[in-house]
Amino acid sequence: MDPAKLILDGKEYELPIVVGSEKEVGIDISKLRGTTGAITADSGYGNTGSCLSTITFINGEKGILRYRGYPIEEIAKSASFTEVIHLLVYGHLPNKQELEELTNQLKSHRELPKGMKSFFDAFPTTAHPMAVFSSMISALSTFYPAAKDEEEVNLNVIRLLAKQAALAAYAYKHSVGQPYVDPRSDLTYTQDFLHMMYAEPPKAYEVPEVLDEALNLLLILHADHEQNCSTSTVRMVGSSQANLYASMSAGVGALWGPLHGGANQAVIEMLEMIRKDDMNFKKYTDMAKDKSSGFRLMGFGHRVYKNFDPRATILKEVAAKVLEGLGIEDPLLEIAKNLEKIATEDEYFLQRGLYPNVDFYSGIIYRAMGIPTDMFTVMFALGRMAGWISQWKEMRADPKGRIYRPRQVYMGETQRPFVPVDKR
Ligand code: CMC
Repeated sequence: MDPAKLILDGKEYELPIVVGSEKEVGIDISKLRGTTGAITADSGYGNTGSCLSTITFINGEKGILRYRGYPIEEIAKSASFTEVIHLLVYGHLPNKQELEELTNQLKSHRELPKGMKSFFDAFPTTAHPMAVFSSMISALSTFYPAAKDEEEVNLNVIRLLAKQAALAAYAYKHSVGQPYVDPRSDLTYTQDFLHMMYAEPPKAYEVPEVLDEALNLLLILHADHEQNCSTSTVRMVGSSQANLYASMSAGVGALWGPLHGGANQAVIEMLEMIRKDDMNFKKYTDMAKDKSSGFRLMGFGHRVYKNFDPRATILKEVAAKVLEGLGIEDPLLEIAKNLEKIATEDEYFLQRGLYPNVDFYSGIIYRAMGIPTDMFTVMFALGRMAGWISQWKEMRADPKGRIYRPRQVYMGETQRPFVPVDKR
């Protein structure tokens, strides 16, 4: 493709084009400031391609999501989360031997380092589990200091993916005042997490298949989503060559916000509000349309998807199945479906391309699984960890990689003389 032409202050410049494997066009402005003295202004980075990546492809107009070329619908139907970890982190689907190897590695690193369990006790039982989870990931770097070579980096990757299940489950156990349950190496990754969450020794706990399957699917659907806020944070922090744990802990912080992963918690709180308000849908859609209210329909809208979010389509179907499988009737599912119907027929939402996103139905499934609302975003993080790690590794391996350092257009005061405070 021919270079783009930019005319600035009457002078013409050529800007090279980068074309992606799905024919996405990027105008390369990396030399823009050097040649023109100008920078681009793109608040919220909505038009900025911050990297070249081979991991995840999204076409927001067509509702396409693929991990390393595989459609999310196909992966969701038949893969295990461990296979998806392999696909994202190592770049290809594992063969039988590779899958066994990864499974065994993840099993052998599940235990937390000695003494770490007592850290949980120091947090207030009212602490938000995202705060505990993020702190504990960061704390892992006190046990496993910065990796000296690739082998050690890879070991830290396994340690984190293996131990995150206990970190999340113990954050929950601490909040409900129950003893921490040791991991069991005879269980799969997802079964073991559920066991650490729900077992109350000495009582035996059999992991229900329906929970295991639902968790596997939820982790897969959340595993990666290209350059979203938390992933960009992970890359940003990692670009300074900060260690794996510091980078991932920062990712958890970014995910926590209600405009990002924290929306799954906010959706349930919103649906509860509607229920308590006698199903007054109109009040809430009206409020969402009124900018001065500060209220948005949570679980609605997406920076990239403008038609539908394929993850939400899958989750809507699965929510009904999980509830049925567990024999649970949750009025929030009906409320969610009604709200979706009303909003998607409303001009305001149609015009702006606002549809349910991944967070709209996921909370209903988590609730049915017995996961408390403030753990929802931790569940999102457990899945997304695979994506964050793959993106972090890709960033580090980029020979052209530089520290992330955006510029700004300064709008403040120009130079003025400093006047000391009159202290008399
Ligand atoms: N309810 C009401 N209006 C909305 C909503 C909403 N949920 N989302 C966007 N809008 C309006 C917004 O007010 C703006 O209107 P106008 O053009 O009149 O000013 C227009 O739609 C475009 O919105 P935007 O804020 O410029 O869009 P964005 O790409 O910056 O934000 C978003 C994307 C997801 C943050 C936003 O849609 C939102 O706040 N949604 C609710 C929170 C949510 O569900 N977040 C989870 C996102 S998916 C999971 C993840 O990956 O994090």
